Amino acid sequence: PNESRGVDRRSFLAGTACAAMAPLWPMSALSSSDASVREFSLSAGQAQVPLVGAPHPDTPVWCYNGSVPGPAIRVSQGERVRIHVENGLREDTTVHWHGVRLPNAMDGVPHLTQKPIAPGERFTYEFVCPDAGTFWYHPHQRSFEQVGRGLYGALIVAESSPPAVDRDVTWILSDWRLLKNAAISDDFGNMHDVSHNGRVGNTVTVNGRIRETFAVRAGERIRLRLVNAANARMFALEFAGHQPWIIAMDGQPVEPHVPEGNRMVLGPAMRADLVIDMRGKPGQRFTVTDAFYRGMAYRLLDLVYSDEVPVRTFADEPPVRLAANPLAEPDLKSAERHEIVFSGGMMGGMMSAMMDGKQTDIRTLMHNGLVWAVNGIAAKGHMLKPLLTLDRDRSYVLELVNDTAWHHPMHLHGHAFRVISRNGTPTQHREWLDTVLLDPRERAEIAFVADNPGDWMFHCHILEHQTGGMMAVVRVV
Ligand code: C2O
Ligand code: CU
Repeated sequence: PNESRGVDRRSFLAGTACAAMAPLWPMSALSSSDASVREFSLSAGQAQVPLVGAPHPDTPVWCYNGSVPGPAIRVSQGERVRIHVENGLREDTTVHWHGVRLPNAMDGVPHLTQKPIAPGERFTYEFVCPDAGTFWYHPHQRSFEQVGRGLYGALIVAESSPPAVDRDVTWILSDWRLLKNAAISDDFGNMHDVSHNGRVGNTVTVNGRIRETFAVRAGERIRLRLVNAANARMFALEFAGHQPWIIAMDGQPVEPHVPEGNRMVLGPAMRADLVIDMRGKPGQRFTVTDAFYRGMAYRLLDLVYSDEVPVRTFADEPPVRLAANPLAEPDLKSAERHEIVFSGGMMGGMMSAMMDGKQTDIRTLMHNGLVWAVNGIAAKGHMLKPLLTLDRDRSYVLELVNDTAWHHPMHLHGHAFRVISRNGTPTQHREWLDTVLLDPRERAEIAFVADNPGDWMFHCHILEHQTGGMMAVVRVV
């Protein structure tokens, strides 16, 4: 709904041939010291990067270690990581390790789990990654601007025995609102974006570039890790001529299955691990399309088969199955239930909500940049008073009710949860997620064991909705 801004990525390509493939990950940032701890350094700062290529080779961005995306942090399951973060921005920042079930003090939420990192200051994060899978990192301070300007990267936790594939590839999808000269439009957090579908941009990149092609070989099996790092854009990827299998969602293994309608839908912050067998012939070309927004489908890039002889022919390759992560299984019979209702937004009819502990009319709310509410409370800044207090190690079922006309990818920190039903119907795969995409007016039940003590954010990952009041704190004691 209200998708007025078209996807205009092609307009930046006038006069260019195919964008060259850049090496995926700069390795310079990575260093390691002793064997028991893996050390990394991230420096948040400003840089110029070739998002769109000629004739506008340099877009000023904010990013980690001079590149968009930031360096991929790769560790093994169960390993301890230590990440030194330096703030070279002119404002406060933090780093949140999205989806990692880590100790609360390492979660990177300013004023809730740590003091923000001031310009010129450093902070060291240290934690163990209990789950293998595809995760990512990004700031949690003014994230609607800091993420929107390019601060994010992949955090990949390898299985102790990774499945056999020919290539393991990461695509970080992101979305930019660029001006004609390819500079980033600085209208971050405007009330139109906040009250509608967020900051949907006009330029989509894969690993920080507009990509024309992605080179493949006939007969190879690729594990494709997709990360939606956009502030607000939803993706529905279609791989013409190919059949992707989903093997994990939000890093958590799932019974391998073909996505519904052969479209891989990813709301902001969501990840999917796909296995795609390249069954085309040498020299063939296939288009990958994003068709989420009705009538606005566009070509993301083309899979281009090399002329080389096939790596192998596919016979009866079994689907790739991943071992489950060590998650506690919620006990649905004894689980305590809570309903959480999301309201507001344009066409939402919200007349008032609680702000700073007082019932407040919509005009005053809007004056404070607030148009969304969670159980009638519009959170301003970082709301420290918990919406729910959960008993440690107890099972919970939260019924999430989207009483709005908009999509919301709802993210709970510090835990993974099973999605057990949607609109009253049990889900087929009972997938473990950390971010569940609610369709307009949809209800979903999520179940989990509250086994990680601390104060955890629960918010919409359309970052404009988050800043517009759609966030809460869940306390586990
Ligand atoms: Cu990906 Cu609260 O964040
Ligand atoms: Cu939302």
